[in-house]
Amino acid sequence: MTTLQRTVGAEVTRVEGREKVTGAALYAYEYPVPDALYAWAVQSTVPRGTVRAVDPAAALSLPGVVAVLDSRNVVRLRPTDTPELAVLQSPEVAYRGQIVAAVVADTFETARQAAAAVRVEYDVDDHDAELTDGDPRIFVPDTVNGGYPGHTETGDVEAALAAAPVVLDATYTTPPEHTATMEPHATIAVWDGDTLTLYNGDQGPWMTAARVAELFGLPEGAVRIVADHTGGGFGSKAIPRPPTVLAALAARAVGRPVKVAATRQQMFTMVSYRTPTRQRIRLGAERDGRLTAIWHDALQQSSTLTPYCEQTVTCTRVMYAARHRRTTHRLAQLDVPTPSWMRAPGEAPGMFALESAMDELAVELGMDPIDLRVANEPARDPETGHPFSSRNLVACLREGAARFGWAGRDPAPGRRREGRWLAGTGVAACNYPALTWPSTATARAEPGGGFTVRIAAADIGTGARTALTQVAADELGVAIDRVTLDIGRSAYGQAPWAGGSMGLSSWGWAVSKACRALVKRLDEVSGAIPPDGLEVRADTAEDVEARRAFSRHAYGAQFAEVRVDAVTGQVRVDRLLGMFAAGRVINPRTAGSQLRGGMCMGLSTALYENLETDPRFGDFANHDLATYHIAAHADVRDVQAHWLEEDDDELNPMGSKGIGELGIVGTAAAIANAVYHATGVRVRDLPITVERVRAGLPAGPPAGFSAGPSTR
Ligand code: MOS
Repeated sequence: MTTLQRTVGAEVTRVEGREKVTGAALYAYEYPVPDALYAWAVQSTVPRGTVRAVDPAAALSLPGVVAVLDSRNVVRLRPTDTPELAVLQSPEVAYRGQIVAAVVADTFETARQAAAAVRVEYDVDDHDAELTDGDPRIFVPDTVNGGYPGHTETGDVEAALAAAPVVLDATYTTPPEHTATMEPHATIAVWDGDTLTLYNGDQGPWMTAARVAELFGLPEGAVRIVADHTGGGFGSKAIPRPPTVLAALAARAVGRPVKVAATRQQMFTMVSYRTPTRQRIRLGAERDGRLTAIWHDALQQSSTLTPYCEQTVTCTRVMYAARHRRTTHRLAQLDVPTPSWMRAPGEAPGMFALESAMDELAVELGMDPIDLRVANEPARDPETGHPFSSRNLVACLREGAARFGWAGRDPAPGRRREGRWLAGTGVAACNYPALTWPSTATARAEPGGGFTVRIAAADIGTGARTALTQVAADELGVAIDRVTLDIGRSAYGQAPWAGGSMGLSSWGWAVSKACRALVKRLDEVSGAIPPDGLEVRADTAEDVEARRAFSRHAYGAQFAEVRVDAVTGQVRVDRLLGMFAAGRVINPRTAGSQLRGGMCMGLSTALYENLETDPRFGDFANHDLATYHIAAHADVRDVQAHWLEEDDDELNPMGSKGIGELGIVGTAAAIANAVYHATGVRVRDLPITVERVRAGLPAGPPAGFSAGPSTR
């Protein structure tokens, strides 16, 4: 580990920065593929039923239309554990927005026009798209996303709650949310015999290639993903989505390359979303704040196609000590599109509930919310009993408090008034697992003195390519400009997604191992590099699996200062400060961006993001960024991310924990807690809209009201 000292830890600027700002960097849709056609999806207008007829005549009569595809004229795919990828495999309709036909034409515009001319008739079945707690279809899954148990129970939580001198029992809800990546989903599919190349916006080239090969019944390696640059993913590009499969099917059907680009509107039903949650938290505590019981239940939805269930209560399993505990996921499969991963799936909504509840308990106890958390700091993982590889939550709370200026805070709500504005501060803890996955990398010494390192990583805007270059350069003992880091190709071998915040930990491990092996090899040949270079390959399967049993998580503390208009209920977030402990930070510049980006997304989910389900249609009413609000520049003011130095030898050769998702966890609770402190209004339902705040405010102007600026 001592070799990683030269560029690791330095604020290296993005190695592909120039390419990106000059427009030279190619994203999926931009690859120059000759002779390509364009496919446009026809989406179901009903939430449940069967396609009775597809009439292509009007579409086919338009000049430039090459084919109209439906379930009768595309190749059969293999059965899949991801049934939403069985595109055009049957006339059954499982959700509104499902692809039921497609047009292939010589231009994008013609394809779009022709798609509107395809007439689809349905036999419509009754549907139920409303998530309600009494639904008889609700069940507890054995396991949830990430492989965690659906339910855990220790001790006698009901008895402990009954005996506890102080009990908190509250229900929190979070809405469905949309990933809203900057680059919409796009694919170019090119078949060459039984080999398929997909230029794809992608978080995991190797993973996607393997899954598409399986779908098409092709051998491993027959599908190649090219994803040099990807414009954001947030989970939505971590597996192939229906538009990618459509491109491959269409290209197969017409015998030419086919391009598919989802429009912003189409993305709202075609590329997944975050499930809504309804969470009940019950906490039992002694008067001194020590928790005796923790009870966390999360109700969520999936589609009828697949029982995808987010790990919403898993953070609660590791956060606080309490002898008696019970955590449960419950799921209802409805006639809705299939939800999937969205940045910190589970942890983000789950910690909104838990960390709001902890704030409510602190109020109930008359205790400082930081002291309450410190009082419940466990010595070991409270459910598994494993030691923590490292855990610096308390240090984050203390150091964050010092930087934020928490000391001397008057805990009483509604005391700070400036004109029509009420101001307040809030805090919440955050946590995210430090995951790793086996990876393969090659390192090659070139005769000219340069080095080429290859790994099927994805840089979705995170700075991964840069950080991996730093890791490689340090292991090789050379300056970073002598290292070329090639990523984004499935052909480079097994590697996980830029997902689960495991990218750099996993890829970096393989890169580090390959580079060390190359240094050793160069030593053995006394530096003599053959004319075609000297290459070594490393994979980390055994290293990853042989690790000792530790509870590995990154932690942090999020602080928010808000201002609430006492008349309108409008919330402005004046300040966010995050203090994190995530192992070794490889590149402070890109790491800071990741953490601040997560915090901005947390702010966005706190105040704005909300897919409005219309149960009559089994779909969302908002299908664009005019009606699905995300935080804009004017909403984001002072956002600071800091971190503690943290040594952890139980992770990987870099000593790093993931940071992609940590920043979004806890932000919404910190803001909700600050809104409570400012106003005395506890909003338990996200987003914190003006209506929800105002509902709790006294009617009419507040006492001492004086006219002030209505915006700040
Ligand atoms: Mo992220 S939601 O784990 O791709």
